[in-house]
Amino acid sequence: MEISSLIIKAKKWLDQNEVIAIPTETVYGLAASIYSKKAIESIYSIKNRPSTNPLIVHIKSERELYKYAQNLPIKAKILAKTFWPGPLTLVLPKTDLIPNYITANNDTVAIRVPNHSLTLELLSDLEYPLAAPSANPSNRISSTTTKHVEKYFKGVLPFVLDGGDCSKGLESTIVGFENGEPIIYRLGALTIEHIELVVGKVQVKSTLKDSEIPMSPGMFNKHYAPKTPFYVVDEVMEFLETTTAKTIVYIGHQLNIEHRKIKHQFLLSENGNMEEMASNLYKILLKADALESDVIVTTWFENKNLGMSINDRLKRASAK
Ligand code: TXA
Ligand code: MG
Repeated sequence: MEISSLIIKAKKWLDQNEVIAIPTETVYGLAASIYSKKAIESIYSIKNRPSTNPLIVHIKSERELYKYAQNLPIKAKILAKTFWPGPLTLVLPKTDLIPNYITANNDTVAIRVPNHSLTLELLSDLEYPLAAPSANPSNRISSTTTKHVEKYFKGVLPFVLDGGDCSKGLESTIVGFENGEPIIYRLGALTIEHIELVVGKVQVKSTLKDSEIPMSPGMFNKHYAPKTPFYVVDEVMEFLETTTAKTIVYIGHQLNIEHRKIKHQFLLSENGNMEEMASNLYKILLKADALESDVIVTTWFENKNLGMSINDRLKRASAK
């Protein structure tokens, strides 16, 4: 179908208070008008998401930010200007244009401009922003292809806007502010190193260890999980020798290994490219999970740049 007719179709469903799937550069989202209480309620029930977990609002341009958020710290303005459209979500005090049912009654709103041409075109044709959590049942791995969305929500959604595979493949980085200073609440596709280049040193509070009360419910440890028991280790050979599991799926970063217990193996990137590894991570985790082996195993990344965001997801996916 032509792009313009896809957009018209998507808009038609959204205008009728329906929930559809939309592509973004990070992961697919389950989208609805922020002004359709009925559609927002369906998002929560389709995902089986606790009503206390607020949604991200997707807007068409940085200019729109000032309609929906207020009292912006200067560093929020700089971050929005530098990284939007892109994989950065800002948590800011909301204006009255954001209904309370979007933010789970918080007085802050999480907001971003996604960097995907189809979705940007759709947003510019709509009279309202879109609330969109990742297109997966609560606590499961996010969808980075339409195939994943269709597998999770077969027969449930009237329409999936097909924008191809998500280029980043990891959720957006979420940044909030305390006393005007940026704090990373969720590591993601935009690296800390990139953020620090424009606003200086930032703090990370993305694990329960760092704060008593999770600022962002995505911070609950168990998240993004496959059904198969999943292990992340330092030394894979040692794991293979000591485990009692009989069938093992191995996810390698760049190189294959030989071992009698390995039933199947996947590589994140043959040339060791970090962006490629990040964008393949969920796809490969879902494929590995589908093999229904006794365990899936992979190794930790060096804890910097995208490796830090990938390690964060590996930690949650393997949390017991
Ligand atoms: O990349 C992404 O961010 C994707 C795409 C679709 O944009 N969306 C996404 O949404 O990952 P979701 O709902 O799966 O994760 C949003 C996270 C949740 O952990 C939620 O708790 C947090 O953002 N969040 C939303 N509003 C918040 C707020 N006002 N304060 C703190 N955290 C908030
Ligand atoms: Mg999610």
